[in-house]
Amino acid sequence: MPNIVVVGAQWGDEGKGKVVDVLAPHVDVVVRYQGGNNAGHTVVVGKEKFVLQTIPSGILHRGCRCVIGCGVVINPASLIDEMEALVQRGVSLDGNLYISKNAHLIMPYHPALDRAAESQAGKRRIGTTGKGVGPAYADKAARVGIRMADLLDEQLFRDKLEFNIRQKNRLLREIYDAEEFTVEAILGPYLRYAGWLAPYITDTALLLSRWMDGGASVMFEGAQGTLLDVDHGTYPFITSSSTTAGGACTGTGVPPTKIHGALGISKAYCTRVGGGPFLTEVSGDIADLLRTRGNEFGSVTGRPRRCGWVDAVGLRYAARINGLDAFAITKLDVLDACETVKICVGHRHRGEVFTEFPEEERIWHEAAPVYEELSGWQTSTHGMQDYAELPTKAREYLERLSEIVGVGIALVSTGPVRDDTIIVAGSALPRWFPSLGSAASP
Ligand code: IMP
Repeated sequence: MPNIVVVGAQWGDEGKGKVVDVLAPHVDVVVRYQGGNNAGHTVVVGKEKFVLQTIPSGILHRGCRCVIGCGVVINPASLIDEMEALVQRGVSLDGNLYISKNAHLIMPYHPALDRAAESQAGKRRIGTTGKGVGPAYADKAARVGIRMADLLDEQLFRDKLEFNIRQKNRLLREIYDAEEFTVEAILGPYLRYAGWLAPYITDTALLLSRWMDGGASVMFEGAQGTLLDVDHGTYPFITSSSTTAGGACTGTGVPPTKIHGALGISKAYCTRVGGGPFLTEVSGDIADLLRTRGNEFGSVTGRPRRCGWVDAVGLRYAARINGLDAFAITKLDVLDACETVKICVGHRHRGEVFTEFPEEERIWHEAAPVYEELSGWQTSTHGMQDYAELPTKAREYLERLSEIVGVGIALVSTGPVRDDTIIVAGSALPRWFPSLGSAASP
């Protein structure tokens, strides 16, 4: 059975949660491999809405085993809240949820450092979610991080905590003039979290290896998106993890030879939250239309998302960096009201048009988009489940986008619930998962 990575192809919020939810019944295991509770994967089941932050979206399917890999940073209080909320809504976790011993903890001083650094960053402010994700990854790289396994060893945990508190308090006091922490205030709650989480903490790399050897199929659920990747994104306006397909290996301990394909998720338009360059950003009526129809408000922070047209140059870059076999295009129905729709086909900078995504920060800030404009379809696609049913102009839009990007479209999402989904016949998805069935080909 194939092991597939599902990865965001833009700046996050592409609708990965819904796509993973649609695909989860066709796999045995879903794994999160990076990010933390900065992510908010929204899944709508019937009339119920679930926002998952650290737990993989597969948890909503009975029998789907879910793993939080070593590349994730875990805020234990937030994870426990998420677990309790799921249990209250009848979701079973025992035997379904596994947490890597090697995953690093988000400690209370991480959000404090995150917010303090942001408050002093001036125009270089990233607009982080304030969850402490960047400082937690910084500690991991600096070799002072505290891991889930440490939480189960009280003496080691206390030693590492004491060391960190001394270091962080100096930073908070002398650089940021912010409130300090005490060991006691953290130790008690964290030891309680340890008791709660202990049954779920295990060697997940070994488990995954055994399951795959036994024929299980694994889906790797990316969080955030390609352009927020710490190496390949619009640095420094990024998150601090490896959001791209390569992160699926380092963030789980699964070797690249065991991964068979990658599905990129993109909205039919584009959004970004926080600071940083966004070439195709729009303002005024069209921004309001996209934000309102797409309900473009952060699922973690509630912040209004910046909105714009799809950038095919960015999507081609995402296809290259992630080795995408296919795209899933989400929220097509949001564009139903547009008279015209635009695809960015080039980044113009000082007379030169780039059709490969530039790597220079200056170009991101100064470039202007080169658009191809198509007429809109101005009729509802909401809830459509059959590709052939789509209005001709909507199909033309999707097919032109796919042609420019050079990658086929395997799934089109036409609304928030599971059933509002088109699986494209002959595409990678029915090849990977024959039980997905098929619809008419484009
Ligand atoms: P951090 O991950 O909280 O450090 O934030 C760094 C940047 O990534 C900010 O611009 C955030 O808005 C953005 N970001 C982090 N998580 C998400 C997400 O799940 N969706 C969209 N943007 C995100």
